[in-house]
Amino acid sequence: MRRPFIAGNWKMNLAARDAVRLAQEIRERIGSVPDRDVAVCPTFVSVSAVAAALEDSPIGVGGQDCSQWDDGAYTGDISASILRSASAKFVILGHSERRHVMGETDEVVRAKMGKAREAGLKPILCVGETLEERKSGNTLAVVERQLRKGLEGLTSEDLAETTVAYEPVWAIGTGEVATPEQAQEVHAAIRGWLKDLGGPVGEDIRIQYGGSVKPDNVGGLAAMPDIDGALVGGAALKADSFSAIVGFGTA
Ligand code: 13P
Repeated sequence: MRRPFIAGNWKMNLAARDAVRLAQEIRERIGSVPDRDVAVCPTFVSVSAVAAALEDSPIGVGGQDCSQWDDGAYTGDISASILRSASAKFVILGHSERRHVMGETDEVVRAKMGKAREAGLKPILCVGETLEERKSGNTLAVVERQLRKGLEGLTSEDLAETTVAYEPVWAIGTGEVATPEQAQEVHAAIRGWLKDLGGPVGEDIRIQYGGSVKPDNVGGLAAMPDIDGALVGGAALKADSFSAIVGFGTA
């Protein structure tokens, strides 16, 4: 049985003080969450402070990206080991905004996955098709390529520490959520590829859905057999909506 995993991607929002305040509010509202894992991913500059605010709580902290290189002369970049030293446990990699706005290739995402694992971070590998790719019938081909490239060369130990997030680009920040059936179709395909790559480990890897997840649609999505939680953007920026999403099915 896979434990649901809900993560908040705060994207490029919240000054450091506001990030700490939101973390404290989320901590107060969520209390203990015995049967699910929870994480928040602030901007790099707030990772340490948010981790301190969440110390001894069940809520983990992650980064939103890391460098494809080890420490060295890469001005402005943040290595996986520096991120880990700031108390991050997780790192989101291959988010569609990085792929499509910053031009990250599958090869770059793959290199970052390797660095994350070397540093002991648990990666959340994002995959997902654009509207154009969906309309032209290429959804599964695009997702399979991103998934196989992103996981290339990882050991089954690495795979066991990895989460996959299926985020259809057309559903991100648009209010247009994939239906549970649309999402499940892709999640089931991802599950098949994960088992192909990792054998029995593939059965245990969590696959989050992301894209306009809200308190009123998370239950329907999470009821699907291969949807194991959510990667939440906009609704993760408010303690009430994020804690409602985290608590799906328990009210
Ligand atoms: P929204 O929940 O705002 O659609 O963002 C989803 C996302 O990109 C999470 O990584």
